[in-house]
Amino acid sequence: MTDKNIIAGAPTEEPARQQYFMEQVKKLVEAESAKKGRPLTCFINTFGCQMNARDSEKLLGILKEAGYEEGTDENSDFVLYNTCTVRENANLKVYGRLGYLSGVKRKNPDMMIALCGCMMQEPEVVAKIKKSYRHVDLIFGTHNIFKLAELLYERFMEKKMVVDVWEGTNEIVEELPIERKYPFKSGVNIMFGCNNFCSYCIVPYVRGRERSREPEDIIKEIEGLVADGVVEVMLLGQNVNSYGKNLEQPITFAELLRRVEKIEGLERIRFMTSHPKDLSDELIETMKNSKKICSHLHLPLQSGSSEILKRMNRKYSKEQYLALVEKLRAAMPDISLTTDIIVGFPGETEEDFEETMDVVRKVRYDSAFTFIYSKRTGTPAAAMPNQVPEDVVKNRFDRLLREVQDIAAEVVKRHEGTVQKVLVEEIDTHEAGFVTGRLSNNTVVHFAGDASLIGKIVDVSLDEAKGFYYMGSLVK
Ligand code: 5AD
Ligand code: SF4
Repeated sequence: MTDKNIIAGAPTEEPARQQYFMEQVKKLVEAESAKKGRPLTCFINTFGCQMNARDSEKLLGILKEAGYEEGTDENSDFVLYNTCTVRENANLKVYGRLGYLSGVKRKNPDMMIALCGCMMQEPEVVAKIKKSYRHVDLIFGTHNIFKLAELLYERFMEKKMVVDVWEGTNEIVEELPIERKYPFKSGVNIMFGCNNFCSYCIVPYVRGRERSREPEDIIKEIEGLVADGVVEVMLLGQNVNSYGKNLEQPITFAELLRRVEKIEGLERIRFMTSHPKDLSDELIETMKNSKKICSHLHLPLQSGSSEILKRMNRKYSKEQYLALVEKLRAAMPDISLTTDIIVGFPGETEEDFEETMDVVRKVRYDSAFTFIYSKRTGTPAAAMPNQVPEDVVKNRFDRLLREVQDIAAEVVKRHEGTVQKVLVEEIDTHEAGFVTGRLSNNTVVHFAGDASLIGKIVDVSLDEAKGFYYMGSLVK
């Protein structure tokens, strides 16, 4: 029987088709493993955002179902890079690692190297890999990660580089295996893609148009997670505020949150990311009245200059952003706000930059991710005149970072001396006999404890603020 016949025998419906290929690959992996006299291992290196982190859990779920054991590093039999392309340096990192992998593969010629994620959605990238990185075995994109088992099967059969990148999709395949990194918390995709086309951003091009999952599917997934020990979920979408608008039976994000809140046994709800342009009063009201939604909002500013915001296509002004913050704080005085800021967008003047600094001083963020503008080919901003010189950008970036850090140190300190609920996440990597956890507002706390606390929500006294984290002690 030829491989084509086997593929012809595969079910056409998902997820049955992928189940079939997971079984087929498993047979091949088992045969290989018998030959080598050891299990075959897989390793996923994830770049970028929480979307990618969640995708990697799905990819690992498929690989384990297909017979691989999880390895600890790139000396594994199947190495997969889940890539990011939001800034140029994310791409450079991947090329660097690929160079390194060619040496690893020379020592283990049977190993397979696979690439997926946002970078692979760019045709120039795939062309470059095909030409200069011939040791890569498999390339796929953001839209077809559910197909990993089928693609892997193809690679096993055809013994040459397999490339399958989709331009877009309307398909959302439910119910494939997932291997979670943490037993007690989990990301949950509520939507995929983005329709906003901020002028600097490549995401809408590589993640496609907005698609929301059905609320019933989301609830079912979270109920399953809770039954499996999860107490905290992070609802994921590029812009959760537009969740549900395009469903056959439209539903708002706030309504989804209220339904998630009702799930018994779930303790904490987080979400990411919220675009300031369409954050509704209904959402603020829902957050305010909720017992489970965490006291934290990530509200990307990008720039404090209304002129730059207009050219970024962000659809709000400095004043509207500040008014929104005021409204949020009026409803929830204690809420922690965090943000993303880009420095050096084309045409950014010193005055524009000062507007950003002004917003930072007015809002007083608990923390902020600051980025140097990175030109992404194909986005409108890449073609804009007046790209800001590197030394000017660097100078502004350093000033912004200092301001953000100084303010955060003061702001984070506001809970010093209080007792707060902490979800314990892991053994402290810096200090023996300590564990690390998070407050509802996402601030990290280290305190004396052992592995038995992991996954539990405990009372911790916040003894001393140390910049962006706390040292605390368990309240017995
Ligand atoms: N250059 C720099 N930062 C960017 N981001 C998105 N695109 C770019 C770019 N071209 C930042 C934004 C976004 C975060 C995820 O990445 O701040 O909110
Ligand atoms: Fe990019 Fe803007 Fe969409 Fe965020 S909202 S992913 S910054 S285009």
